[in-house]
Amino acid sequence: MANPTFAAIDIGTTKVATIVAEVAAGEIRILGTGVTPSAGLTKGMVDNIHAATETIASSVERAAMASGTTIMSAQVGIGGPHISSMNSRGIVAIADPRHPITQGDVQRALESARIVNVPNNREVIHVVPRYFVVDGQADVIDPVGMFGSRLDVETHVVTASSSAVHNLLQCIRNAGVDHDSLILQPLASAEAVIDREEMDQGVVLVDIGGGTTDIAVYLQGAVVHTAVLPVGGQHFTRDLVIALRVPQMAAELAKRQYGNAIPSFVDEHEEVEIDAFGSAGKKTVQRRYIAEVLQARTEELFEMVAAEVRRGIQQDVLSAGVVLTGGGSSLPGIEYLAEEVLSLPARIGRPHHLSGLSDMLHDPAYATAVGLLRGAVREREIMLRSSPLLPSASLGGLMRKVAQLMRVILPQ
Ligand SMILES: Nc1ncnc2c1ncn2[C@@H]1O[C@H](COP(=O)(O)OP(=O)(O)OP(=O)(O)O)[C@@H](O)[C@H]1O
Ligand SMILES: [Mg+2]
Repeated sequence: MANPTFAAIDIGTTKVATIVAEVAAGEIRILGTGVTPSAGLTKGMVDNIHAATETIASSVERAAMASGTTIMSAQVGIGGPHISSMNSRGIVAIADPRHPITQGDVQRALESARIVNVPNNREVIHVVPRYFVVDGQADVIDPVGMFGSRLDVETHVVTASSSAVHNLLQCIRNAGVDHDSLILQPLASAEAVIDREEMDQGVVLVDIGGGTTDIAVYLQGAVVHTAVLPVGGQHFTRDLVIALRVPQMAAELAKRQYGNAIPSFVDEHEEVEIDAFGSAGKKTVQRRYIAEVLQARTEELFEMVAAEVRRGIQQDVLSAGVVLTGGGSSLPGIEYLAEEVLSLPARIGRPHHLSGLSDMLHDPAYATAVGLLRGAVREREIMLRSSPLLPSASLGGLMRKVAQLMRVILPQ
């Protein structure tokens, strides 16, 4: 029998990445990837349905061609500054305390946590259980099978603008793909690059994309805070356009080729020639000046991250520090500036433990796409574990709901 295949689509502000993989001997083997520059997306949100659909369809088609598969459905990421999050507690009574707590009781508790004050133009996209409390006994990871008369669940609830969700889903449908589930981008990135120990000891994931910077804070193995900041790599490039008075393409190239987040890492006498506006069409710039412009924006971004982390938790409990992903984290020296501004250890998060055609995916810009793929694999494993006798084709509807629920309950 052929190995099951999985697909994930990361719809970013600068690129749409589709990955197809199979699981062989417990290992994720990449079969093909399709990457297309984005159109019709601003700050992670669709602003032109037609253009965004074309981009998604082209990325999907490339991945299908590369992998020799047909992509019917995929795990899809969602982001954008319209996302907001809060923590909420659900409480239910157990009808008969002589019987063990069931999956149904857990589902009821989560439904009760889901009842939060959400305006009708927003919708809940995640209710992530952080821990359960059974008759006052706190920090229960999985209450199924335990005895008790009251079940509480502490959750992290993520909401999104309904129109942003529907615009995104419409583009995916128009591109001929069903969405398996919609996952908040920083939760996906974390899945790809953060390990269990870091989540237990406290860590913040910072995904610096093109239009946004996504944040997810983990403590004691569970997510406690998520946020999306409306600043990304495009703002770094725009700063260079203004500071150097050069076209956007030249600024982007200068950032990638000569950029550094720490000016003192760059020789103060080194000069580089870049394309420019004006009669000469070229200009000579001190490389250290490029670094100074980038340092100012990076510092400001990390200060915004620090403020966001403080909104979620006390910063000094994040022993595992900061993990940086997204294309913006490829700026040399950025991890050192993160350590300085946030006063926490920092590292770059690169997706790993992949085989097959995976070379390009070890780049931090693919953390979200790889995390979405891991989510899809885990969802299916849970579905099979919950219902081993079902043929794979019938693993839909209700079973998928159970798997999505279990995925967030069970430790990774
Ligand atoms: N070497 C580099 N130095 C600095 N920035 C870089 C480098 N390489 C890529 N980038 C920046 O990374 C950004 C793209 O990152 P990424 O691919 O993670 O974004 P995205 O997922 O499309 O966007 P978003 O997540 O914001 O919707 C671009 O702004 C690009 O300029
Ligand atoms: Mg992204």
